[in-house]
Amino acid sequence: MFDEHGLPRGAELDEAALPALYHFVYCSRAADGVDDAEVGRIVESAQRYNLAHGITGVLVFGSGVFFQWIEGPAAQIQKLIASLHGDSRHYDIVTLSQSEEERERLYPNWDMEKVEAEDIRLVLQDALESAEDKNNVAALTRILKQLDSGPLDSLGRS
Ligand SMILES: Cc1cc2nc3c(=O)[nH]c(=O)nc-3n(C[C@H](O)[C@H](O)[C@H](O)COP(=O)(O)O)c2cc1C
Repeated sequence: MFDEHGLPRGAELDEAALPALYHFVYCSRAADGVDDAEVGRIVESAQRYNLAHGITGVLVFGSGVFFQWIEGPAAQIQKLIASLHGDSRHYDIVTLSQSEEERERLYPNWDMEKVEAEDIRLVLQDALESAEDKNNVAALTRILKQLDSGPLDSLGRS
């Protein structure tokens, strides 16, 4: 079961066999009338759909703003991205990051977890630390500044 280094046999093989994982990260503004109850309904149906399609991730809702990280097989994520763009419950979608890589999931156990609004700053700061694209760094820095200065009225409009 374990080799001479005390590592489980096959561990290196598993690492080499990491599947290609597509991720899509964005911020958007909630449409008028989208409240906690509506977000609860979004999460409930998202969990059912995501579980059936190999999608995991996290959704943050606070101050009228969504932040979502979704990850899974490329074809499934592309389909969901198209649905998200056609969903009138939010608008001004700002793409922060999307790519396909061979790596582990960030949220392997979350079909779609809703994170409380107080945590939105931590989530955005985490995203900022790992952001490489300078446009994403600028977008995240702008959103964090807006969180400091009050309402996020101008998100996605500059
Ligand atoms: C902020 C936000 C996040 C969403 N996240 C998901 C999700 O993770 N999974 C999902 O299946 N639907 C999610 N939805 C719902 C989709 O936009 C869409 O309504 C659903 O996939 C049904 O799509 P269809 O009408 O094109 O079949 C989300 C909607 C919003 C507004």
